[in-house]
Amino acid sequence: MQKGELLYEGKAKKVYRTDDPDTYLVEFKDDATAFNGQKKGTIRDKGELNNKISTRLFRLLEKEGIATHLVEQISDREMLVKALEIIPVEVVVRNIAAGSLAKRLGLAEGTPVARTVVEYYYKSDELGDPLINDDHIAAMNLAGASEMAAIRKTALAVNDFLRRYMDERNLILVDFKLEFGRHKGRILLGDEISPDTCRFWDKQSREKLDKDRFRRDLGGVEEAYQEIWKRLGEN
Ligand code: CDP
Repeated sequence: MQKGELLYEGKAKKVYRTDDPDTYLVEFKDDATAFNGQKKGTIRDKGELNNKISTRLFRLLEKEGIATHLVEQISDREMLVKALEIIPVEVVVRNIAAGSLAKRLGLAEGTPVARTVVEYYYKSDELGDPLINDDHIAAMNLAGASEMAAIRKTALAVNDFLRRYMDERNLILVDFKLEFGRHKGRILLGDEISPDTCRFWDKQSREKLDKDRFRRDLGGVEEAYQEIWKRLGEN
């Protein structure tokens, strides 16, 4: 598979065309940003670890019947994926209050929510990814009602599986963000699932093992990403 034109460069990934128009190549970078790009840094080996972690989780989700964009991991930092037309809606699923939800609702971080919360954010750096609802999505023609119904159902199925899977590895899945896209008339789960996009806490100590270590200058950032890979690797 030939690496072609650079299509897009984001904060943590680059996306290239390949010689197959239906397949893109994603390259995972060590760069990290937070607070809509205001904080910048690098996390050693993050690209490699997020590539491995995402590939592992996408494969497991595929086995559960969830369609993802994964084709295969082709190198330490590179993954081949099905070309997606990304739906500009970030889908956040929450089991425990943290981050912006804790702030917005005045909940102490770590408070479990009585029912899983699904939120949508409009993917726009300019606007700082505002929180939106189904009406905004319809009003802006971002996705159809049946597409959103499928996305919500899939996001909850991902949560059911991942929560259990992480629990078996002594990790609490606090919250996470998903992105979806269209490929040949189907909706596929895209982007990545990694410590950049999820909050993982150790079940006993409640130590944070995710990007919050970078966002909040907690130290031990690299070690946290390594630890997640290690726990996934313990089958
Ligand atoms: O992380 P922050 O407090 O800014 O936002 P949040 O709404 O509390 O984030 C909820 C979850 O979505 C966390 O696991 C974030 O890592 C993830 N997220 C993401 O991956 N990308 C974003 N642009 C926003 C949130």
